[in-house]
Amino acid sequence: MNILGIETSCDETAAAVVRDGRTILSNVINSQIKLHEKYGGVVPEIASKAHTDAIDAIVKKAVLESGLGFDEIDAVAVTSGPGLAGSLLVGVSYANALAWSLDVPLIATNHLQAHSWAASMSDEKATYPYVLLLVSGGHTIFAEAKSPTDIRPLGTTIDDAAGEAFDKISKYMGFGYPGGPIIDKMAKQGNPKAIRFPKGKDLGMDVSFSGLKTSVMYYTRGIGKLRTRTGEITEEEKLDIAASFQETVVNILWDRVKKALNTTGLKRVCLSGGVACNSRIRLKFAQRCEKMGVDCHFPPPVMCTDNAAMVAGMAFHLQQSATRDYDLNASPNLGIESCPR
Ligand code: KG4
Ligand code: ZN
Repeated sequence: MNILGIETSCDETAAAVVRDGRTILSNVINSQIKLHEKYGGVVPEIASKAHTDAIDAIVKKAVLESGLGFDEIDAVAVTSGPGLAGSLLVGVSYANALAWSLDVPLIATNHLQAHSWAASMSDEKATYPYVLLLVSGGHTIFAEAKSPTDIRPLGTTIDDAAGEAFDKISKYMGFGYPGGPIIDKMAKQGNPKAIRFPKGKDLGMDVSFSGLKTSVMYYTRGIGKLRTRTGEITEEEKLDIAASFQETVVNILWDRVKKALNTTGLKRVCLSGGVACNSRIRLKFAQRCEKMGVDCHFPPPVMCTDNAAMVAGMAFHLQQSATRDYDLNASPNLGIESCPR
């Protein structure tokens, strides 16, 4: 079964063709990073306009690169939520029209369930059930993933998403956008133990990054006792700030994942979302899981960040909800436990 997937929930216009849930025939991603860079974050109006401009060419490219013709597409899948309403609507409207014109079923997918499937579809050993850590620019979710469509949330963030924290600290420090990859690179030259930023209070399975953010800001302004030096922050110190901030994020996330492993008794962890590209998270999680006798899986970076291959792959598990009504709407606030429709 060849499914054409479409993804426009945030700032990537993406289309892909996937056979039988796993075999990626094409995976085309048009990132809008350059358009949002100067604002230090995604501007919703700019995102939906850019999706509108790009979607037709991206879908055609995905079909061309798959080596198939439009007449060999068996179903169209689209992210219907969660995400930015205006961005989702571009993909959903396009998918309604395309599925109708090809006379094939339309399958609505949950972006968060698709991120989880991205881990399993990239690695046959990453089988359900597992503890899922979904960390992106918009989400931080700890969950028990029992199957592609049965995911029980265990905890989340009470303020910023992990990726948002990277992006905001990077913006504040003047490092650039998006912050995650930049801080990851800088941190390689810094000392992760140089500054003991606080991990925040005990929120059970939830996390908060606002205290950490404030602490980094106070440090740079010389407020409080954390900074022992005086004078301007040096370039070398910036590397230590990046490394120490990143290390604190890793420790906050690991703390909850360890709790989730203990409470569920599961022996596997899968990570997904843009922040799962982070090299320190990959290293530390792999080391700590090995010590605990737990399997740890990360999709390749291209499958961690937003893409349509995970949408087309996920839709394979949702064939019973395929429709020929072609009146799908966007669901901006869809939770990870909900199947669209
Ligand atoms: O999954 P994604 O592409 O889009 C959302 O659905 O949000 O994730 C983007 C986020 C951004 O916040 C970006 O800074 C972060 O993922 N990110 C990283 C890394 N690469 C991307 N964060 C930490 N380390 C990285 N290497
Ligand atoms: Zn995403």
